[in-house]
Amino acid sequence: MNRKEQIKSAYKQLGGSASFYDGMMTYSTLPGKAVCRLVWNMDGKKNLEYLTRALSGVPEDFAGKLLEVPVGTGVLTMPVYKDLPDADITCLDYSIDMMDVAKKRAEAAAIKNISFVQGDVGALPFEDESFDIVLSLNGFHAFPDKEAAYRETYRVLKKAGCPRWKAWAAFAA
Ligand SMILES: C[S@@+](CC[C@H](N)C(=O)[O-])C[C@H]1O[C@@H](n2cnc3c(N)ncnc32)[C@H](O)[C@@H]1O
Repeated sequence: MNRKEQIKSAYKQLGGSASFYDGMMTYSTLPGKAVCRLVWNMDGKKNLEYLTRALSGVPEDFAGKLLEVPVGTGVLTMPVYKDLPDADITCLDYSIDMMDVAKKRAEAAAIKNISFVQGDVGALPFEDESFDIVLSLNGFHAFPDKEAAYRETYRVLKKAGCPRWKAWAAFAA
């Protein structure tokens, strides 16, 4: 199954059981679809294209160190992480409540190579150049200090890290 099919099938399984937030992010519930269409002018096809494009920067056989900030409920990324058994994945979010949902998702998917850190993107608790990939989806619009967020995510990214990172940051802002 390619990345697009993998994402589509994982989100489809959420169906009506998804929370309002997750339904909106994945175009999988009636209220979620209504918000996508009315607020963002986005149908299911566009939503899937957007997510597939954003996640395409993570190679399917990725085996390095990845930081996701903010992970939120993990609804968009756990279906991808479950197929990256050799990666070393760190997820950070300011909200413990959001991250608790993500942790449960990781447990349900039996993802072992993952850790969760509560923190502020503006003061990341990691050394310089610690990660090969820094992934941020729907995050920058929510960060109160965007300059600090860019500075910190850039600081912890290995300078020989994924060259597409800048494109992602701009794309997902
Ligand atoms: C719209 S959600 C996006 C979550 C996830 N990436 C997604 O696409 O579903 C935004 C998240 O940013 C987190 N957040 C806001 N300010 C933050 C900060 N300063 N540091 C870390 N996370 C923050 C919130 O707690 C929330 O979970």
